[in-house]
Amino acid sequence: MNIFKTALTRLRIIQRQPSPSSMFFSTQVLKCDPSSISFDGDDHPQITCIETLRSLQTASRDLNDTLRPVVFPTETVYGLGALALNSMAASRIFSTKGRPSDNPLIVHVSSEHMLRSLLPPGYSLPAPYKVLIERFWPGPLTLLFPSDPTKIPSIITANQPTVAIRMPSHSVARALIAISDAPLAAPSANSSGKPSPTRVEHVLSDLGGKVGLILDGGFCEVGLESTVIDGLQEDGTLRVLRPGGVSVEEIKDALQQNLPGGTIPKVLVHRRDFTDDVIERAPTTPGMKYRHYSPSVPVTLLRTSTPPPSMKLKSYTPSDLLGSLKESVASVTSLKVGLLAPSDSAVAKKLLEDTTVEWHRYPLASFSNPALIAQRLFDGFLTLERESVDVILVEEVAEEREGLAIMNRVKKAAGETYWIDLKSR
Ligand code: TXA
Ligand code: MG
Repeated sequence: MNIFKTALTRLRIIQRQPSPSSMFFSTQVLKCDPSSISFDGDDHPQITCIETLRSLQTASRDLNDTLRPVVFPTETVYGLGALALNSMAASRIFSTKGRPSDNPLIVHVSSEHMLRSLLPPGYSLPAPYKVLIERFWPGPLTLLFPSDPTKIPSIITANQPTVAIRMPSHSVARALIAISDAPLAAPSANSSGKPSPTRVEHVLSDLGGKVGLILDGGFCEVGLESTVIDGLQEDGTLRVLRPGGVSVEEIKDALQQNLPGGTIPKVLVHRRDFTDDVIERAPTTPGMKYRHYSPSVPVTLLRTSTPPPSMKLKSYTPSDLLGSLKESVASVTSLKVGLLAPSDSAVAKKLLEDTTVEWHRYPLASFSNPALIAQRLFDGFLTLERESVDVILVEEVAEEREGLAIMNRVKKAAGETYWIDLKSR
């Protein structure tokens, strides 16, 4: 028997929350068990847990009937979703987050059928896109497509000729889209400029009272946002506009394995391998114009690599660094320092020897496990912020695999950078 359909018919009407115009809601949190959801060959969700089904139905009704945004988990970060094809619904995302209207949104789909319904008539996917979709969807990869203005409201694209689309792999996200039978626009569920939430507690402390409903599906496994790729360039390159959950190494590998030699596109990372005047000026480029990922506490990046000689930078020993921090936060008697450093960090070991400082070390993972560091980074920022530290120190990791996305976020969050030298003195 089809459990999903049977349970749907038994659903009772759940009382409505106040209307969106009241600006303030009592925020309802509904549990979802991701493991109770699977998808059949036609991309329809099969849901074995009645509580999860009811939560999803309530969220779907909110989205469709009241046009209110709903917070839901994805494998990357929690999203603030609303109907992508309804301008009024989408506009509420911007007002809830305080997001500038010239920053476009990602549209989330639950099936390739839904993707095709959004694309211009007769559009055929470029070969590299076919490979990437086959390999990484559903998953943390966003692709730019030509936008059909008769289908996609201009508020979604911020009047750009392209629309960003992804298919999330989190079963709660995908089931919500499928049950709502509508693509959902969803930025990260945080006030504009803040780190993205990876747990419901973060959403509640930031957007509690501003959203009516949060679906709680546990913590987000990837922990950083999706990789955003523009493969529509005339020169045939694939341009990584934002490194994220799928690494550049994985992308290159998939293309090499699945495309015939001679047709493998170059994969270029923005600001590492290319810059482009148009992109530099455009607010659409992820993180270019607006402040990103910053907790309210100042973040300081500790670099351990050798600074380029041309920069003529001073290197600090760990005790010089702490001296400098104490001077800059002179008003406090005991400095409270948040530390985000890999578990096998020599710099952290040295810093922690200073017992005049109140240390708040948030556990990450070893240097050899950048995926776990990525998963924990935003949780670290937000947890340390709630512990009211004076400053958060983050140690750099190698810009490889997940490390590229980690450093992209850390550099944007950091107000200051210190080069640390363990060898001198
Ligand atoms: O993992 C994710 O992508 C999460 C989850 C919720 O899916 N969403 C997310 O959305 O990170 P947001 O709005 O926080 O970031 C989307 C980024 C923005 O930096 C935006 O500028 C860029 O994607 N973007 C969206 N549409 C674009 C377009 N047409 N051209 C270039 N960049 C675009
Ligand atoms: Mg965001």
